[in-house]
Amino acid sequence: MMGASGLVMQAMKTQIIAALAATFAFLAPVAAIADNHADEHGEDAPRWSIAIHGGAGTLSPDNMTPERRAEYEAALQVALDAGAQVLKNGGTAMEAVQAAILPMEDSELFNAGRGAVFTWEGENELDASIMDGRDRSAGAVTGVTTVRNPILLADKVRTESPHVFLMGEGAEQFAVEQGFDVTPPEYFYTQRRMDSLERMKAEALSSLDVDHKFGTVGAVALDSQGNLAAGTSTGGMTGKRWGRIGDAPVIGAGTYADNRSCAVSATGWGEYFIRVGVAQEICTRLRMTLYREAYASGGDLNDQHRAWMREQGVVQKAADAVMAEVKELGGDGGVILVTPDGDALFSFNTTGMYRGRATSDGVNEVAIFGGEEGSGTGNTPDH
Ligand code: GLY
Repeated sequence: MMGASGLVMQAMKTQIIAALAATFAFLAPVAAIADNHADEHGEDAPRWSIAIHGGAGTLSPDNMTPERRAEYEAALQVALDAGAQVLKNGGTAMEAVQAAILPMEDSELFNAGRGAVFTWEGENELDASIMDGRDRSAGAVTGVTTVRNPILLADKVRTESPHVFLMGEGAEQFAVEQGFDVTPPEYFYTQRRMDSLERMKAEALSSLDVDHKFGTVGAVALDSQGNLAAGTSTGGMTGKRWGRIGDAPVIGAGTYADNRSCAVSATGWGEYFIRVGVAQEICTRLRMTLYREAYASGGDLNDQHRAWMREQGVVQKAADAVMAEVKELGGDGGVILVTPDGDALFSFNTTGMYRGRATSDGVNEVAIFGGEEGSGTGNTPDH
């Protein structure tokens, strides 16, 4: 027979389940599912997977020449293959994320590293962050102007400093101490980006008017050891002023990785992604959903709960729901994510997102516009 404290515990448990059910009402009905966990975790799951993005925005096949499109697809393929190769060879998710981001930082096509947009003052201030899902160690830099590959510096912050987030001159001093070359600012000068800044000023336009997209780059990966990682790198938004910082270097907003739930990298209108805390919000919703399932079935969290989550498409729903929140507030953009089960997904509320994914199951695809292969969800394709 249950004693008074047992009854209190039981009541608390019931209340917790009710509260969690209310919070996660956006998901499929679950009450009857606890006894219906068919597949074991991993039975049909890829051993490794990777997803990349090179920005999202108002993209339409009508506004892009076939040559330009081919150029972007080739650059995405190079990045995807670089990351996938690491994973195929048994490398870590952290290594794969960096391997995938490096070629995008070195390409003029993307708003990161070499192709970064200009600030109002005509400089290139670079942001990046990276996170290891094993221990949630993270590193980030913002406002760096002399580092060719900020994603590598972010990782050094993670591994070689007692800090998570370094800015500006301090971050550059740290880079020199870590043996990074000082890249001359001219390296980041591209005529296309300068034209955008000048047009923005001359015609009193917003950065969205001149860029039509957020060219931030990112990668998320699951390795064959079952570990997750996420990384993001950007030049921010054309004409940014007053030391403006977007979501890309903010852990929890543009980047998050936690082996218990997922790895996310975002691209979009940074102010909104910070306000929603997009990357961590998606991971937290997944984690809480799993705990709720465990509570509901009266046992410890196990692989069957993860299998249920896959069957129900919970990951896509959670990502779409968080991106819908961004949209409600007035923001746009997209996310890529991978889960411990090897699913590699996208969600974006723009007409397109430069993206790609590959898995050990043989998936290997890149795409740009909504509705194409590998599109995951573009949940407001008319935007
Ligand atoms: N998402 C990049 C930025 O807003 O800076």
